[in-house]
Amino acid sequence: MNIILDVQYLCKTFDDTRVLNDINFKVNEGEFIAIMGQSGSGKSTLLYNISGMDSPTSGNVWLRDKEISKLKDTRMSEIRLKQMGFIFQHAYLLKNLSIRDNIVLPGFKLGKLSREQVNQNADALMIKTGIRNVADHDIKRVSGGQLQRAAICRALINQPDILFGDEPTGSLNSSTTNEVMDIINAVNADGTTVIIVTHDAKVAARAGRVIFLADGNIHEELIMGKYDRDEKKKLAREKKLFEWLEKQGF
Ligand SMILES: Nc1ncnc2c1ncn2[C@@H]1O[C@H](COP(=O)(O)OP(=O)(O)O)[C@@H](O)[C@H]1O
Ligand SMILES: [Mg+2]
Repeated sequence: MNIILDVQYLCKTFDDTRVLNDINFKVNEGEFIAIMGQSGSGKSTLLYNISGMDSPTSGNVWLRDKEISKLKDTRMSEIRLKQMGFIFQHAYLLKNLSIRDNIVLPGFKLGKLSREQVNQNADALMIKTGIRNVADHDIKRVSGGQLQRAAICRALINQPDILFGDEPTGSLNSSTTNEVMDIINAVNADGTTVIIVTHDAKVAARAGRVIFLADGNIHEELIMGKYDRDEKKKLAREKKLFEWLEKQGF
């Protein structure tokens, strides 16, 4: 197994409060990790610090053979644009632009492919996620689920190595959550490493490994194995995770 992300002795302090305390973990290429923990346990902080959106107070984060925790902002932005995709609880699409224009924007910004190729890739992503029919709609005219699918397309337009999500289904209802998570599982099955923060155990049950944060550190982790759409297997995973979470006091 090749390691894509290696987090070593990561600490993050805000003012005098240490939120993350000596976190160590490695992520294999192609893994799907869910980060859980009580509200305020530092899940978002961890995600931001391993994805270069914020810099650790101390410790190191390696993306393959590159140490990203000490990079300058401009270099880090480049790496994020090229190698990382991000989805959040809210889609954060630009107003006054169509769904398609929002999706192609990071592709045009990267400038690795021609605009025509970026548009073609956007089409393929929109077809895959079921929003091709609203490609030219203004973002005010589509549903929350469609917006989040568009955010996923935008995150994937530059074919990132890692897709990060902070509560990506946090404002969706349960059936839309399921649809969005089917997409994320499919993206992961295609080889993209996925790391998401969620407080929803059903969402976390789709990951191959669940990390539980408490007291600024990884309290426990549960290996779930490869996701399978089979309904019985899905229920068995959820049961296993629910029981484990109960033991964590969640
Ligand atoms: N930019 C910041 N400045 C000061 N404190 C922060 C900042 N970001 C997060 N915190 C604090 O760090 C702790 C963890 O926050 P967060 O990572 O958002 O938790 P979670 O995502 O698990 O709910 C909280 O106590 C929060 O108030
Ligand atoms: Mg959070």
